[in-house]
Amino acid sequence: MTQDELKQAAAHAALAFVPDGSIVGVGTGSTANHFIDGLAQMKGRIRGAVASSEASAQRLAAHGIPLFDLNEVTTLPVYVDGADEIDPTLAMIKGGGGALTREKIVAAVAERFVCICDASKRVDCLGRFPLPIEVIPMARAQITRALQALGGQAVLREGFTTDNGNIIIDVHGLRIARPVELESTLDQLVGVVTNGLFARRGADTLLLAAASGVERFDAG
Ligand code: 5RP
Repeated sequence: MTQDELKQAAAHAALAFVPDGSIVGVGTGSTANHFIDGLAQMKGRIRGAVASSEASAQRLAAHGIPLFDLNEVTTLPVYVDGADEIDPTLAMIKGGGGALTREKIVAAVAERFVCICDASKRVDCLGRFPLPIEVIPMARAQITRALQALGGQAVLREGFTTDNGNIIIDVHGLRIARPVELESTLDQLVGVVTNGLFARRGADTLLLAAASGVERFDAG
């Protein structure tokens, strides 16, 4: 199977977690796109979706799936999204597609976070994938210095603006042994909007697709 076929298998397995009549939180990226396409096949059974990016909102709308503003809903039974890396505790690095802020906001409202990945995303220790940080543009230089001081190599994502009008700095070379602590440390840097560690609120369930099938892991 190709990596894309594995992403599709994980995404389709997540459809079983969508309750009838619900509003679904929807992530961003190529794996989430497969989930959106699957959701379209059962759109008569759901009320609609809250999107974590303009790109996902457009894809949902193209399928005729009603879109809800997050401020219109008080809770979401499930949020389904991919990840760039996920560790054994189901802490993740996200934001490879630059949608980390809205992803973290929608995930925070959801009762259950279902992460959908191909097997290449599973790691023992987070950090091989550069950690994305969304930053207010005027804080770029000071945040770059602060990130270098933490031991990472901070690289501006050239030519990229987030849906919120900000920049992304990708931090290379981190070995993230304590993701919960690092997530909190990064959140305290003035000028950081969101960091791509999803550890304090990690996934509740991982659906991991390999050639042998889709395996389910639940947070302990
Ligand atoms: C976007 C994300 C994505 O979930 C992450 O980048 C994984 O993407 P893909 O499913 O395309 O491999 O965090 O901001």
